[in-house]
Amino acid sequence: MKMEKERTLVLIKPDAVKRNIIGEVIKRIEDTDLKIVAMKMTKASEELAAQHYPDSMIKALGEKGIENGYEAADPVEQGKKIIQWLREYITSGPVVAMVLQGENAVKKMRQISGYTDPCKAEPGTIRGDLSNDSIVVANKEGRTVHNIVHASESIEEAEREIALWFKPEEIYDR
Ligand code: TYD
Repeated sequence: MKMEKERTLVLIKPDAVKRNIIGEVIKRIEDTDLKIVAMKMTKASEELAAQHYPDSMIKALGEKGIENGYEAADPVEQGKKIIQWLREYITSGPVVAMVLQGENAVKKMRQISGYTDPCKAEPGTIRGDLSNDSIVVANKEGRTVHNIVHASESIEEAEREIALWFKPEEIYDR
C-alpha cells in the first residue's frame, strides 16, 4: 500500500510580508528536502482567523505565556487576550500561505522555524535569525509576538489547517 505523503501548513505572517522577507523564508524551506505543493498570498477573514486560532487553544496559550516569563494571575484570562491579539494580527494584512510535502514535513518545518519566542529561538532557525521580538515585551504591549511564521504542530493539526486555507484543487502533488 502506498503511504500518504505528509503535509504541513506554513503561514508567513503579516509583519514578515511587510518586512520583505518572504524570499528569505522560502529559501530556507527550499533548502530542506520538503516540496512546496501549494502557495498563495491571501488575507484571512475574521471567520478564518477564528477557525485557525480556535477557542480550544486559550488555556494552553495563557500557560505558555506565563511559562515564558509573562506575569499573569489567570492563564485562561491571559489566553483569552492572546487569542484575540492573534486573530487581529493574522487578519491585519496579507500572509503567504503554503502547503509543504515530504517525509516528516510537520516536524522538519517546526525544526527550521525554531521556538515560539524569537528571543529564545535557536540560532540558525527562521525565528531565531529573522526576529528578536519577545513574548514578554509583546504581551506587555498588548499584541502578539512577531515570530515570522506559523507551522502546524501535529499531523492532525496540519490536515485541519490545510483544509481551512486551501481547496484540494489548489494543492499540487509533486
Ligand atoms: P503556539 O501555538 O503556542 O506557538 P507556535 O506558533 O510555536 O506553535 O502559539 C501561537 C502563537 O501565539 C505563537 O506563534 C505566538 C503567539 N503567542 C503570543 O503572542 N503570546 C504568548 O504569550 C504566546 C504563548 C503565544
